Amino acid sequence: MPVICRPLEMARTMVMNCLASGDKAVDATAGNGRDTVFLARLVGASGKVWAFDIQKCALINTARLLESENLSNQVTLVESGHEHLSHHVEDNLGVVMFNLGYLPGGDHSVFTRPSTTLIALEAALKSLRQGGIVTLVIYSGHPGGKEEEVALLQYAASLNQAKFTVLHYRMLNQVNNPPSLLAIEKLAL
Ligand SMILES: C[S@@+](CC[C@H](N)C(=O)[O-])C[C@H]1O[C@@H](n2cnc3c(N)ncnc32)[C@H](O)[C@@H]1O
Repeated sequence: MPVICRPLEMARTMVMNCLASGDKAVDATAGNGRDTVFLARLVGASGKVWAFDIQKCALINTARLLESENLSNQVTLVESGHEHLSHHVEDNLGVVMFNLGYLPGGDHSVFTRPSTTLIALEAALKSLRQGGIVTLVIYSGHPGGKEEEVALLQYAASLNQAKFTVLHYRMLNQVNNPPSLLAIEKLAL
């Protein structure tokens, strides 16, 4: 097992260190539901998870996976863009996870866009509790992916360091546009 883990694993490690049973969390890009299941396990039966996706097939896949793991009770599936996050979730979130780009095995013409991702990120940061984190796994290889990465990094770098800690984690020697991780921790309300 390598010591330097990939961005998705690093995101999960941070999330595990942040969430406890009874917490509230959001999967902003449900896709096939793996992150939703991961969050639902961590918050347990007394916690709450909201999972967003704009594709019905993604939410159907997510619902199936949750049912098979007996985790449906603590999850609300939201068929809506994550840019509407603030209309659907409660405050004091422990974690908001984004896994950007398109659905693997799905329609590659449907992918996250910088304008809506930025609105969602801003809303997520507002709804976080002190000590909560947002993780974004960013893919820059698809059309528009690089622009999304640049927009997110620019926005994140401008956040007040007294209120947020911002980390960008990426591999420097891998070919074919490997994903990177942007992680933001809320230090103060
Ligand atoms: C890379 S996939 C997510 C993979 C997922 N985390 C998993 O574990 O399978 C990205 C997902 O974002 C969704 N998406 C695209 N734009 C969105 C938006 N504005 N709001 C919410 N989801 C969106 C896509 O439909 C796609 O399912």
